Amino acid sequence: MDKFVIRGGNPLLGTIRVSGAKNAALPAMAAALLAEEPVILENIPQVRDIETTRKLLAAMGAEVELGYGRAQHRTTLCCRNLVSPEASYELVKTMRASTLVLGPLVARCGRARVSLPGGCAIGARPIDLHLKGLERLGAIITQEHGYVEARAERLRGAEIVFDKITVTGTEELLMAAALADGETVMQNCAREPEVADLADLLNKMGARIEGAGTATIRVKGVATLHGAKHRIIPDRIEAGSFIVAGALTGGDINVAGCEPRHLGALLHKLDEAGVKTVHNADSVRVISDGPLRAADMETEEYPGFPTDMQAQYMVLATQAEGTSIITENIFENRFMHALELDRMGANIKIEGSRAIVRGKTPLSAAAVQASDLRASASLVLAALVADGETIIDRVYHIDRGYEHIEEKLRGVGGQIRRIGEILPKRAVAPAVRA
Ligand code: EPU
Repeated sequence: MDKFVIRGGNPLLGTIRVSGAKNAALPAMAAALLAEEPVILENIPQVRDIETTRKLLAAMGAEVELGYGRAQHRTTLCCRNLVSPEASYELVKTMRASTLVLGPLVARCGRARVSLPGGCAIGARPIDLHLKGLERLGAIITQEHGYVEARAERLRGAEIVFDKITVTGTEELLMAAALADGETVMQNCAREPEVADLADLLNKMGARIEGAGTATIRVKGVATLHGAKHRIIPDRIEAGSFIVAGALTGGDINVAGCEPRHLGALLHKLDEAGVKTVHNADSVRVISDGPLRAADMETEEYPGFPTDMQAQYMVLATQAEGTSIITENIFENRFMHALELDRMGANIKIEGSRAIVRGKTPLSAAAVQASDLRASASLVLAALVADGETIIDRVYHIDRGYEHIEEKLRGVGGQIRRIGEILPKRAVAPAVRA
């Protein structure tokens, strides 16, 4: 297991480039299951979840080419000859987004068998709303031995009202409805840019979707979809993480290749906290030269403040003058980073879904553990301002969703390096005599 060793205290200076959005790329790869012709996706981030999706699709018989570097982070997916519409527990357990294949598989093949994901570090995260929606579209759903099976000769359009806003749930049903017979109207949909990006791709493939990015989406089902070429939107959470890094370290960085329109709630909150940002069409410059002020924050569905930026914002709150109350409204268990931050000198008290952060407290190096993707990012940010050398264990979490974060941060002056685990010499077991 790799670790990061980070020496804090350097202001970040220069330009840092944002990769394609993991959470847009994953549904886009699943969408390729809907067509027989190749789907070409550009701006695919080089992260572990993409590799997991490649394996998942390949196990079903898809041909997936994945090229990075000069190949422009591109993948070509051809799902002409699917052999088995199944997603095994082995893959689903490492990445919940694997359940995104359920909708497209049942729509295209009439049958899908996908492992239930189970709970995870940030909450229970059921997929009941995905299943309820598929049933509304006429699928017969059965659950057995931890697997969900969906069957339908042909899905048919229906009215779906989500009881709760769900990002992958909206994406799942968008893909299923694209090939259903008749019109589907979905209400209370997630408005995340990743949902709109998926709809853009599906429309390029011949789908007839209107309203993606709003709470009501209309889908006129078509009989088949064809191949298409699509460029994935920039990762707003990676961009946000770098913006907060700039704000924290008192530097001057330009976060390039992002979409400032998707960062509204974060930039607004940072302004309240005393962080100056200037943006143009595709970059955000962060100039952090004054003191940070405490500002309360609540996570909400888009366009509200993203839960995926809560942990990073908490680090900022530890460095702001005054008390910030951070309320997590999306996931019930997303404060694992708070304990680790406390070990670095933060003063954070958790009361149910609220974290009370008293600042400003100097942070100092400690040995800490990453518990999930965004919690890991927050530890990296904390280490960049901490006094001394922090060691972060289990960085495989961060590799799931941040492309070469250590190289990118080094490029703007961060002192961060990756080390492999040094295994202790194996003790020689004493001989046992009967
Ligand atoms: N929920 C249900 N039933 C469902 C679906 C969701 O109760 O059938 C609940 C969840 O338990 C949660 C809330 O609804 O309390 C919202 O969950 P949502 O379904 O929107 O989350 P998701 O689709 O599983 C995506 C991102 C997450 C991100 C959330 C919220 C992907 C692949 N994942 O998850 O990203 O935190 O939306 O914005 O798009 C990450 O990248 O680190 C990450 C966790």
